[in-house]
Amino acid sequence: MLNIILFGPPGSGKGTQSKLLLQKYNLEYISIGEILREQIANKTPIGKEVKALIDKGNLVPDELVVELLEEKLKENKDVSGFLFDGFPRTLVQAYILEGLLLKLNTSLNTVISLEVDSDELTKRLLNRAHIEGRSDDNKRVIEERFREYNQKTLPVIEFYKSRNMFTSINGMGTQNEVFARVENVIDSVVKKVSYNVVLIGRPGAGKGTQGEIFAKKHNFHYISTGELLLAEINKNSAIGKTVKSLYSNGISVPDELIIKLVEEEMAKHNKNRGYIFKGFPRTLIQTYILEGMLRRMNNSISLVVYLDVPMLHCFKRLSRRAQTDDARPYDLTTDLIIGRMEEFETKINPVIKYFKSKNKLVRLNGLGTQEEIAEQLDEILVNSLKKII
Ligand code: AP5
Ligand code: MG
Repeated sequence: MLNIILFGPPGSGKGTQSKLLLQKYNLEYISIGEILREQIANKTPIGKEVKALIDKGNLVPDELVVELLEEKLKENKDVSGFLFDGFPRTLVQAYILEGLLLKLNTSLNTVISLEVDSDELTKRLLNRAHIEGRSDDNKRVIEERFREYNQKTLPVIEFYKSRNMFTSINGMGTQNEVFARVENVIDSVVKKVSYNVVLIGRPGAGKGTQGEIFAKKHNFHYISTGELLLAEINKNSAIGKTVKSLYSNGISVPDELIIKLVEEEMAKHNKNRGYIFKGFPRTLIQTYILEGMLRRMNNSISLVVYLDVPMLHCFKRLSRRAQTDDARPYDLTTDLIIGRMEEFETKINPVIKYFKSKNKLVRLNGLGTQEEIAEQLDEILVNSLKKII
């Protein structure tokens, strides 16, 4: 997810820049000011309560703002990010936003503050009064809004500076000039947000083949736990020896061991666009563990693709491979293959259900030529990547 705050005094261009940003980035727009104006126009109980405050240029109580925000966030749990215009405006709101985003398993990426001279701010707002006729755009109320901003909102800057999230940019100049500066900041943030894909599917469904093709083409790092373990066996390391004997007995490899290998691999390769995980996670426990590891890196699982190939087909593919030079130690006998299929069928359903409930699961029919499947997977992933770029 990409979560951005546009910060700045009244008239600095937050609303104007937001409109431009929404044309380029697929974000859900949240402006408490607009929500409140809507409530006033619709004469709702909240509208009646806040009208006098807004007309005087005072901030609305935190409790009320938080209630409105929470409602809006709840409605939009599955969006690819939020653009906050003029929120938070008090230190309390900043802490609350942090907590609410955490509840959605996400966090803020950046705060962009628009710096504009105070004479220019007044000029813009008085000018807007003629165009939009906002009840709070008159000289006396504008002064009160500035006073509120200086007293209650400026302390929020320190909060974000201490979290290394605050970027102030020059808000003077034409709308397009300012937009170019805003875009610059966001593009550098987007580059740091990695995109992580999990490929699941029965043994033999073609996850490895497809994962590698996509990773190479789009600069992702491909992580296959099966291959990491195989590399240990080939090195004849201590881990390799343990794994080899587990494989020959058809016993699955313990989580501790797999997690360690995945963690090391991720630390070694952290300059890519993201990771493609293949064969991991394959249980709900491993899913929670991977989510935790990614969260520590301020990242998350972006999408899960279930490459669906009927069991009999997978069986045929694996037995065929077992007769080639590419034979895997875990495919050598029918019993081993059956054991792997059984393990998949029993453990994967909770994983599928979990990602479905988070709206992150896409099923792809894995029957077809390698090229056909590669093309379809490419389309799914590239489209989903566009959501955050
Ligand atoms: P809100 O609606 O958020 O108002 P504001 O913060 O006072 O900001 P404005 O909307 O006036 O300015 P803007 O920065 O969006 O500038 P804009 O792009 O329009 O809040 C209203 C009220 O709601 C608050 O006073 C408070 O009571 C309440 N409220 C809201 N959020 C709250 C919260 N979190 N907690 C408590 N209370 C809350 O630009 C201004 C004008 O300049 C436009 O006419 C525009 O066309 C023009 N312009 C823009 N850019 C340029 C440019 N580069 N060059 C020339 N003109 C430009
Ligand atoms: Mg505005």
